[in-house]
Amino acid sequence: MTNKDDSGNNFPPPVDDTTSAQSNSCLIVPLDFPDLATALVMVDQLDTTISWFKVGKELFTAVGPMAVESLRDRGKQVFLDLKFHDIPNTVAGAVAAATAVGANLTNVHASGGLEMMKAAKQSATHEAEKLGIPRPKLLAVTVLTSVDQTTFARDFDSRRKIVEQVVYLAELSQKAGMDGVVASPLEIEQIRQACGREFWIVTPGIRPGGRSFCGKDALNDQKRVMTPKQAIGAGANQLVVGRPITQADNPVQAANQILAEISAAAGVFSNSSLV
Ligand code: C5P
Repeated sequence: MTNKDDSGNNFPPPVDDTTSAQSNSCLIVPLDFPDLATALVMVDQLDTTISWFKVGKELFTAVGPMAVESLRDRGKQVFLDLKFHDIPNTVAGAVAAATAVGANLTNVHASGGLEMMKAAKQSATHEAEKLGIPRPKLLAVTVLTSVDQTTFARDFDSRRKIVEQVVYLAELSQKAGMDGVVASPLEIEQIRQACGREFWIVTPGIRPGGRSFCGKDALNDQKRVMTPKQAIGAGANQLVVGRPITQADNPVQAANQILAEISAAAGVFSNSSLV
């Protein structure tokens, strides 16, 4: 169902090679829960449907590495989403720890700078070699999707358009050796054009049915959304879809519907030229 990348992790192939059989690895379900027991109920419910889960700041702060270990013990792939941003030495240590605990994908803030990202890459590579385990894919967060054009101009005193800043930081991330970025679905196309087809793009802000169908409540706090089909079509490698699955009456059914949409989109877009 999935491909092993150079380092042995299970990832879907680059976006325009994705087939329906691989769509399962394109979908990451975040475990935004306050404790491990609740998170594992969701994991067990989705066990035969979902192979990738995301551990973020809430669960990790409450539970620690056990959150990742419990998923790995169940044979799951883990995106450890802690968005490190600190001096290079500190981030290097944190990324080494994320590697050792068995994360398959983890991330830092691109705005931490070139040296910080280079230190993260070097440290993950070194730790993985030392332990004889696969190196996690490293992603950089560019501009948070909670920041809009008005707050960006005001808080960062910048004249740039957000998309320009996103592409600038994506290129910096690539220069530092990052494998890809976390990005809003609305910026995928420009990042793809700037950074090429091998650059890994993981995108949250996905709502099945899109803004016009899901209504205000189902949008939650996401402002700039796309459907799974649109995001795959724009060139995303993996989608993070949370509440539309975890808060659904039937999470398995909701996940299967999204997987079907990804499969259909992968078929439609399988021959598209993205770069
Ligand atoms: O429930 P929902 O689908 O909105 O969940 C989105 C997930 O993606 C959350 O875990 C959130 O922390 C994460 N995320 C996001 N926007 C970003 C980065 C991460 O929504 N820019």
